[in-house]
Amino acid sequence: MQYDFISNITSINTKGSAIFGVFDDKNIKGITKSINSSNIDKIKRIINKSSFEGDIGQTLCIYETSSPKLEKIYLIGLGKKNEYCEKKFIKAIISLCKVCKNENLKNVYLETNTLINNKVKLNWAIRNISIHVHGISYNYDETKNKTKSKTNYEINKFIFTSINKSSNKNLKKYFLQGKAIANGIKFAKKLGDLPSNICTPTYLAKSATSLGKTNKKLNIKIHSEKEMKLMGMNCLLSVGKGSHEPSKLITIKYSGTNSKDKPIVLVGKGITFDTGGISIKPSNSMDEMKYDMCGAASVLGTMKTISELNLKINVVGIIAAAENMPSGSATNPGDVVTTMSKQTVEILNTDAEGRLVLCDALTYAAKFKPKHIIDIATLTGAVLVALGKVASGVLSNDEKLTKKLINSSMISHDYIWELPLWEEFQSELDSNFADIANIGKRYAGTITAACFLSRFTEDYSWAHLDIAGTAWNEGENKGATGRPVSLLTHFLLENAKSL
Ligand code: BES
Ligand code: MN
Ligand code: ZN
Repeated sequence: MQYDFISNITSINTKGSAIFGVFDDKNIKGITKSINSSNIDKIKRIINKSSFEGDIGQTLCIYETSSPKLEKIYLIGLGKKNEYCEKKFIKAIISLCKVCKNENLKNVYLETNTLINNKVKLNWAIRNISIHVHGISYNYDETKNKTKSKTNYEINKFIFTSINKSSNKNLKKYFLQGKAIANGIKFAKKLGDLPSNICTPTYLAKSATSLGKTNKKLNIKIHSEKEMKLMGMNCLLSVGKGSHEPSKLITIKYSGTNSKDKPIVLVGKGITFDTGGISIKPSNSMDEMKYDMCGAASVLGTMKTISELNLKINVVGIIAAAENMPSGSATNPGDVVTTMSKQTVEILNTDAEGRLVLCDALTYAAKFKPKHIIDIATLTGAVLVALGKVASGVLSNDEKLTKKLINSSMISHDYIWELPLWEEFQSELDSNFADIANIGKRYAGTITAACFLSRFTEDYSWAHLDIAGTAWNEGENKGATGRPVSLLTHFLLENAKSL
């Protein structure tokens, strides 16, 4: 996609369509001024005859323009002027993307100033427009034969108009950040959407290896089951025991600064399918358990994004990949395993497997002497009860880190919300036969899951993101979301040395 920033839409020399934001007062002064239209009245008449009310996200196409270079003009409703904010902007941009795709627009002129006010700043807006317009080209047809889309839609040229380039030096930087974030999101979505007979732990390892070839600053290490056994990762290995697919521990090291700066470590849950194991799940919607590796996918996506941006920061991505299956060789409820940390775990429910793979990966992560460890996991159904599909849960042993993550989540609009990790919850994990049980009792499932992980992260600044509600959409729009790549990238951008 080519892009540019120009001051005046009347100076364009390639044919294309123009897009304007319009509030519900239907004031089109901005449009008529910038395209020097001789037939203001005509446009007003078209608007008045239509059902366009300027409601948020509503669109209207005006097919006739007086400017020969403008094929069409599209209006995007922005709602009430005094309520306009970043959330409304995002709704408007999603609608803009739908228009581009549905109308197959090739060259797009966006009258950017119509979308900017004191609450929606230009640089932030450019980055977010870029995320969304690059996101349009996500297309899943890996496992389709009949309905393979012949042409993948993509915008050719995206031109931001009414921009004063000389007073805005960083526009390109923000646009390219958005592009890299979109590429990370698309990468994560593809891995999430692939079925478990393709996306196995071995496939995740191969994806990491090929990502590693794209940038010299990336270094990939794949540990086999045998090597994990030698490191004492019995708890991780207990999860894949019932599966024919070998488990993998994947490490992706990104060295963005030459110095010995402490890295931020991202640990992803990579259960490529979660049947529940011997504590088998009911069959309704069980197909969605192919998404149980979305934490891992978000780690890979984020590593892709930061390496494309050549961020000056050290980051290590660790993925604990396994398939959770019932079989004659599977772990049974009541089995006791010894973790890499030497703490023993009574596996009372084999469906609480995410924490079992993560605990050993978190112990392993310590060897990188991290500044922070953040794990990302589709860990509990309970987080859907607490926060729905709007926000991921965050639980942490470091208040400052939590604040920073929540702040990045508000900037990226990839929301997270905190649940308490108080000591009062810890006794839920008491076991008669081991140091820790892998499940709590009936209530506060997201918190007791995080309590389990907290037993392995005591020496470090650590945060856990439970993305079970946010990593994919259900129903008609079933598909991975790529969350929380955007949040993680914003957090890493804040922590990187400036370019
Ligand atoms: N992968 C699931 C969590 C999950 C469930 C994500 C539904 C999205 C939708 C996880 O491994 C799991 O099964 N968790 C159990 C834990 C329980 C056995 C303590 C759960 O949440 O029911
Ligand atoms: Mn499970
Ligand atoms: Zn799971």
